[in-house]
Amino acid sequence: MAGLIPQSFIEDLLTRVDIVEVIDSRTPLKRAGKNYTGLCPFHQEKTPSFSVSPDKQFYHCFGCGAGGNAISFLMDYDSLEFVEVIEQLASQAGLVVPQGNQRDDQKTKQRATIYDLLQKVDEYYQEQLRSHNEAEAAKQYLKARGLSGQLAKQFGLGFAPPGWQNLLHRFPEEEQRKMLHQCGLLVDKEDGGRYDRFRHRITFPIRDQRGRAIAFGGRVMGDDKPKYINSPESPVFHKSQELYGLFEARKSNRDLKRIIVVEGYMDVIMLAQHGFTETVATLGTAINTSHLERVFRNCSEVIFCFDGDRAGKAAAWRALEAASPIMTDGRRAKFLMLPEGEDPDSLVQKDGPERFGQRLQEAQSLSDYLFSQLMQNIDMDGLDGRAQLAAEARPLIQKFPRGVFYQLMVDKLAELTGMSKPDMASYLNTGKKSEPMRQQPSRPQSSRSQNSAQQSAGPGFQNNRPVSRAPVNKGFRQHQLPSLDSATMLLLHSPSLANVAPDLSGLDAENNPELALLIELITRFKQDPQMNIGILMSHWQGTPKGARVVQLASRQTLLEEEMFEPEFLGAIQRLRESEGEARFKALSQRPLKSLSAEEKVELREWLAHRS
Ligand code: CTP
Ligand code: MN
Repeated sequence: MAGLIPQSFIEDLLTRVDIVEVIDSRTPLKRAGKNYTGLCPFHQEKTPSFSVSPDKQFYHCFGCGAGGNAISFLMDYDSLEFVEVIEQLASQAGLVVPQGNQRDDQKTKQRATIYDLLQKVDEYYQEQLRSHNEAEAAKQYLKARGLSGQLAKQFGLGFAPPGWQNLLHRFPEEEQRKMLHQCGLLVDKEDGGRYDRFRHRITFPIRDQRGRAIAFGGRVMGDDKPKYINSPESPVFHKSQELYGLFEARKSNRDLKRIIVVEGYMDVIMLAQHGFTETVATLGTAINTSHLERVFRNCSEVIFCFDGDRAGKAAAWRALEAASPIMTDGRRAKFLMLPEGEDPDSLVQKDGPERFGQRLQEAQSLSDYLFSQLMQNIDMDGLDGRAQLAAEARPLIQKFPRGVFYQLMVDKLAELTGMSKPDMASYLNTGKKSEPMRQQPSRPQSSRSQNSAQQSAGPGFQNNRPVSRAPVNKGFRQHQLPSLDSATMLLLHSPSLANVAPDLSGLDAENNPELALLIELITRFKQDPQMNIGILMSHWQGTPKGARVVQLASRQTLLEEEMFEPEFLGAIQRLRESEGEARFKALSQRPLKSLSAEEKVELREWLAHRS
């Protein structure tokens, strides 16, 4: 792994990679004129609205709004981190990712050794389960719970033997102990010594997406308390990001159609044993939007399968809230609440795979679940009840992105309350805290992705999803001057126009990000004839500027190519005039006394020019 990857290297890499090849090897594309089209891999559709431009090295979906360059495509499609994509593309292009500065290097090296060490710990625990003389009880326990040896092996179950100093003795070097302490496997004693966190427990390695052990869970073999303990947060483990079982699920399924989300380690393993290998669990934390983004990067359907008790219901409701801002078209979320007293582990053993599979088939849709939960305590016969339902549903529905799904919810609420659909639509448009369409789901950032951001020097890559499905438009005016819009759009379509662009430095771009963007694009395209949107996006992905570029570049133009230049020059001319007009207005409205000598000259020239 590299430290800070220089931007120049990323650009160089992008000039060698062909986005058409990258995408076509994963999802088939067909030539259509200058571009390529195909079915969008990021949402479900029957007619192609996904377009890839070899000139711009850029893709865009007119259906769901996904768009970006080869890097963002791979991050999304293969669910990889930024640095992983760079490494993969580099090795395909026969390039070596250059090493960055020393501090980052040290950090990466240290992380690499933590991974190595955790792998050794993982192997040690597994070995103890096989051979430790007290492991028999652990094996018996697992057997009694119905777990097969094969699944225990697949999930890497192990045994932390009784005693306070097993790891301590196993890893005598101070360097190693320091790292074990960093990962929480060794705990500080008051007298300055250390002891093993996991003692006399069955261990569950928690693996990251690449299959590396990053933490452990440990269960007692009986009814002692606490039943489970887990590794704390560490440089390589961030609970709020990881999903237990995702690596194994991806390994068992080339093509994940859906992901089942359950609550516990044993639920994941036991469902896998019964053929439901597409199961994951959070690590003792509530499921959040960031978890679900990760789920939806792998498939378009999620089934929440929780216990029917109070805790399970609370977890399901939190899941619903976490999912709502990211339920874009094509994504589905369902809920399967189990009978009281059962969890997926117990039920699948009782039911068998067929019956359990049937239950999954019959899981409630998100909207059914939402309304049934809300209506539980409402008397729907009276007017009061219906008004109450509308009032309670409104803030929830407002969180969903606008699209087919949102529309269906609006219709459903209209039907349930007896309101007309248009009335309901406008009711839902009032009393909003913010405009949900423009809201990015909040996403806690792991220090891992923050690292990649530093490495990329591209702030946008902090988020795992750089694609602008919900464009961030902060700072950009919503209603643009049409000439400014069209100048920028044409320039993005045909960067060589930068060479004929007149000087715009006289215009006041300070408070107009849109104009500043046009000027910056002209400068960049002029400086570097190799520059294309794909490369630009490696600087701007995830930033408001990047989102705006995606928006404008994706706009179709009906103009013939030979009309680009006159149209571009005309648009710039109009732009200068209207900017000049605004300046003239401002100057002419000020008292003459307050104008500087230059401003007076400017005003006089403007008047002369106009008459
Ligand atoms: N959990 C935890 N710490 C606890 C209890 C639970 O971290 N003290 C987490 C574990 O990840 C566990 C999950 O919450 O797998 C679900 O807990 P629970 O439903 O109580 O346990 P089960 O998964 O049913 O555990 P088992 O079947 O082994 O009893
Ligand atoms: Mn259980």
